[in-house]
Amino acid sequence: RKHLLDIESLSPEEINTVLDTARAFKAVGERAIKKVPALRGKTVINLFIEPSTRTRISFELAAQRLTADIINFTAEASSLKKGETLKDTARNLEALNADIIIIRHSATGAAHFLSRFLNASVINAGDGAHEHPTQALLDTYTIRERKGKIAGLKVTILGDILYSRVARSNIWALLKLGAHVTLCGPSTLVPKVFEKMGCRVTHNVEEAIADADIINLLRIQHERQRKSMFPSLGEYTSLFGLNKKRLAITKPDALIMHPGPINRGVEIDSEIADCGRSVILEQVTNGLAVRMAVLFLINGGKGPQEVG
Ligand code: CP
Repeated sequence: RKHLLDIESLSPEEINTVLDTARAFKAVGERAIKKVPALRGKTVINLFIEPSTRTRISFELAAQRLTADIINFTAEASSLKKGETLKDTARNLEALNADIIIIRHSATGAAHFLSRFLNASVINAGDGAHEHPTQALLDTYTIRERKGKIAGLKVTILGDILYSRVARSNIWALLKLGAHVTLCGPSTLVPKVFEKMGCRVTHNVEEAIADADIINLLRIQHERQRKSMFPSLGEYTSLFGLNKKRLAITKPDALIMHPGPINRGVEIDSEIADCGRSVILEQVTNGLAVRMAVLFLINGGKGPQEVG
């Protein structure tokens, strides 16, 4: 594929190729080999128009490990501030010989939009409340690495589903790989319409977490919500937050996941975020190998057999 725009359009085989290639890159990293020349001479641009810590920095590191030139576009210091359009911005970056443009934007469809007129490859690093494909790939990678499989696992995604691009991409990836997906949270943020995708929807947190193999917690995204919307953060914490009492009813080997950034004390108790069952920082570590795999495959790499 030339672009990575979403998970919805990927086949299970394509997802597994990314995960297998990421495994190969992680193995290379474990041999303390920091750099491979796969993208030598290529230019990658991080076009982030929304804030990011994990995604932007791991794409930057991934490009460096593949020996690409990587430029971080800073929206606040750019000519977007003078009224230049996103289309003109992207076309100018391409005129500077960008081979791959990684875009994060608050608008749904921003990555698809760029892919319609650019010759460069486009990678979606999060578009509004639509998709965040590399987050889902690193999440499924982490689950597969820890549990040895995805198919048949019970995965509960708890929190703000309606406004979450992480949820949407995870749902597509997990269902395509054969997991059973339960969505839980307040009815204002977890509407029953998600059942049409093939998920179970419940508003009872104890029911959602008791038999889960994986509990993936999502942040309440106040930046994407109407101000009057229920619940408030305090109400959310008391009704749905993962605390010690709730953790006690979960399976002892259930993994606790979170894409970050965490609101400690809101969707998750601080102690639980740091406990032995939390794989939150492993997710971040795996994001580097997964993003190396995505850049490598977008650049024409065939799969793990080509990773040195
Ligand atoms: N999970 C995630 O996308 O984090 P950042 O917003 O920090 O990139």
